[in-house]
Amino acid sequence: MAEQDQSGTTTSGTKRGVHGAWASRWTFVMAATGSAVGLGNIWKFPYIVGENGGGAFVLVYLVCILLVGIPIMVAEVMLGRRGRQSPINTMRYLTEEAGLHGAWNAIGWLGVTAGLMILSYYAVIAGWALHYVGQMASGAFQGASAEQAGAIFGNLLADKNTLIYWQTIFLLLTMAIVIGGVTKGLGVAVRILMPMLFVLLMILLVFSYKHGDFERGLNFLFSFNYQALTWEGVLEALGHAFFTLSLGMGAIMAYGAYMPEHARIGRTVLAVGFIDTAVALVAGLAIFPIVFANPAIEPGAGPGLMFVSLPVAFGNMTGGLLFGSFFFVLVTLAAWSSAISLIEPAVAYLVESKGFNRITANLSLGLMAWVVGLGSVLSFNEWADTRVAGFTFFEFMDFLTSSVMLPLTGLFIAIFVGWIMKPDTVREELDDESNRVFFSWRWVLRFVSPLLVLVVFVLGLYKTFW
Ligand code: PHE
Repeated sequence: MAEQDQSGTTTSGTKRGVHGAWASRWTFVMAATGSAVGLGNIWKFPYIVGENGGGAFVLVYLVCILLVGIPIMVAEVMLGRRGRQSPINTMRYLTEEAGLHGAWNAIGWLGVTAGLMILSYYAVIAGWALHYVGQMASGAFQGASAEQAGAIFGNLLADKNTLIYWQTIFLLLTMAIVIGGVTKGLGVAVRILMPMLFVLLMILLVFSYKHGDFERGLNFLFSFNYQALTWEGVLEALGHAFFTLSLGMGAIMAYGAYMPEHARIGRTVLAVGFIDTAVALVAGLAIFPIVFANPAIEPGAGPGLMFVSLPVAFGNMTGGLLFGSFFFVLVTLAAWSSAISLIEPAVAYLVESKGFNRITANLSLGLMAWVVGLGSVLSFNEWADTRVAGFTFFEFMDFLTSSVMLPLTGLFIAIFVGWIMKPDTVREELDDESNRVFFSWRWVLRFVSPLLVLVVFVLGLYKTFW
């Protein structure tokens, strides 16, 4: 694709030096999995399942992953691989190539903005995990009851200086990796450590099977109690499908840009989607039995769910001091490998088009995310009672990004690839897929995904505000 290589910006030399290409399809799987598996799976999924009453929400979420997430992920990887630049320039190139109206560039812009907004609060929550590494190791949770664990967590939220301290450290860690280039440092670490995270989740699962109320946990997650489900909940499930697969904000598009020419996108995406879903479900299965065995913890406890339930488990397990601190190290790593993909698209854009180098780009964007993140920090203490449309600042950022911006960008992507791009161009990019796979995918992307997103989006927003 020499023609496309030259279509890049004049800085394409730097660009290629910086981004390079994944060595193989497998490296892409690891990078995309690193982006997808993060706080969304271990922290967010269980607590929103809890808030939305369990089983029915899980089912809606799985349907969204299958009919919306996976097809749109294929589309995003494909767009990225064809454009081979940051999402903003990729969309610019593809719209120009197809002779379309410049308004389609909004896909790139919306996505990059959403990424930075997510990073702002993501760093705050990842900061909690970082803080918990030390807490665990120091034995603060040794033999702790659910009440004690809840009190420790409450004290952390009330202490804004500690929150800001860890938020800052996490952002610095993220910028350090993105400045140094993604593939070598974190790529390697993630490849070794992510499997360990999974193993530790399994150990937790065994603990929770032995000591928790496993049957109730299982029932809660998988029985179809549709009465508990609301349209707001359905919108949240849809938004989370985007969030957990890192869709609708350019991360996967940016990673697709470094994908080898001939790698089957379909299978690759299925692998990433499968691992991501498995981690979320195992996290849920590990957490809820512990929650139900401890009446002091509510399933709908909100963002603190993991930070209260798991310390209780570790605090009462042999070797829990060690396992516990190691677990939070791994959660931090999972968050880290996601955070780099939240900032990378914007960094790539500033480097390609605005004359920044990796360092200045990271510093400016990191500073922005830090300042906005202060709003989330304060929403857990000083601003806890300040609400906009019923949301605290943190809840508002989360809602605006996950439930509005990501689905909207995803919808535009589905329409762009399904209806606007020339079918031949799309087929050419996906020429390794069989006819059957290609045409089924395209059909779902044209009809099912956009319709689902549209209906859920409109009804969900309507019910949230009226
Ligand atoms: N997928 C990540 C998670 O589940 C979060 C994320 C969202 C990362 C969007 C990149 C882009 O934690």
